Amino acid sequence: MSEPRFAFGRNWQRLVARLEGGAIDSARAKLVEMLGTGDLGGRRMLDIGSGSGLMSLAARQLGAQVTSFDYDADSVGCTREVRQRYRPDDVDWTVAQGSALDEAYMAKLGTFDLVYAWGVLHHTGAMWRAMELAAAAVAPGGTFYVALYNDQGWISRYWLWIKRNWVRRPWTRPLAILVHAPYFIGLRWLVWVLRGRGGLARGMDLWIDLIDWLGGYPFEVASRDSVRIWAGTKGFDLSTEASAGRRHGCNEFVLRRKAAP
Ligand SMILES: C[S@@+](CC[C@H](N)C(=O)[O-])C[C@H]1O[C@@H](n2cnc3c(N)ncnc32)[C@H](O)[C@@H]1O
Repeated sequence: MSEPRFAFGRNWQRLVARLEGGAIDSARAKLVEMLGTGDLGGRRMLDIGSGSGLMSLAARQLGAQVTSFDYDADSVGCTREVRQRYRPDDVDWTVAQGSALDEAYMAKLGTFDLVYAWGVLHHTGAMWRAMELAAAAVAPGGTFYVALYNDQGWISRYWLWIKRNWVRRPWTRPLAILVHAPYFIGLRWLVWVLRGRGGLARGMDLWIDLIDWLGGYPFEVASRDSVRIWAGTKGFDLSTEASAGRRHGCNEFVLRRKAAP
């Protein structure tokens, strides 16, 4: 029997149901900050594991021609709904179901100027293999924007245990929420209020983030050094990095593939 997985798409449905302009603005702002440009016109982007579809929408609004796909049928439904709501009949945004680990599928997609895989490849069950296949989709001179969970050593092993329980033993879920909500929701809510109630990074939501974090399984982590070394061996230069420090969450890397000689 195959290992149970977290129902990512069902969680995204909640975000899509209450999606509003502020969240879309935050999503766009994050892309601009990390990519160093607000103009993606003329660039082809592959959004691997598009989830809610919010980041695909943001990239499309910045002018990229977007191909989104996700493994989870409900995530694909969310991305399609967002496309239908904000960009109906847009021929420059396609949405499909597929897996980042399906070599034939990935090869058929071809190469892109920008490959975006935020918070996805560590949920595939074979993170480094997924990194290889995603990197192969980056055209010479292109950009790979990837975010992977920070390796916190024994703390990451604790989270693996929580997440495994979430998918294997659903009765542990209320307890996991009770134990972790004071920090994940209480403290973050306070910080949000003290900072003037602006949009959360990338247009996310405290409750949806909490459930995604407690349940998101399969789950792997990577140290910043291991990603930097990997990038060097694959012919990428590090352009921008956003670190999670010693905390849980994602380290983000914007990598540029050297142009063909
Ligand atoms: C935490 S969400 C991130 C969504 C989105 N990239 C974002 O930035 O908000 C992870 C997504 O990865 C998808 N995913 C997991 N394994 C995948 C795979 N093998 N291929 C494609 N998508 C996958 C999940 O279904 C989920 O929608």
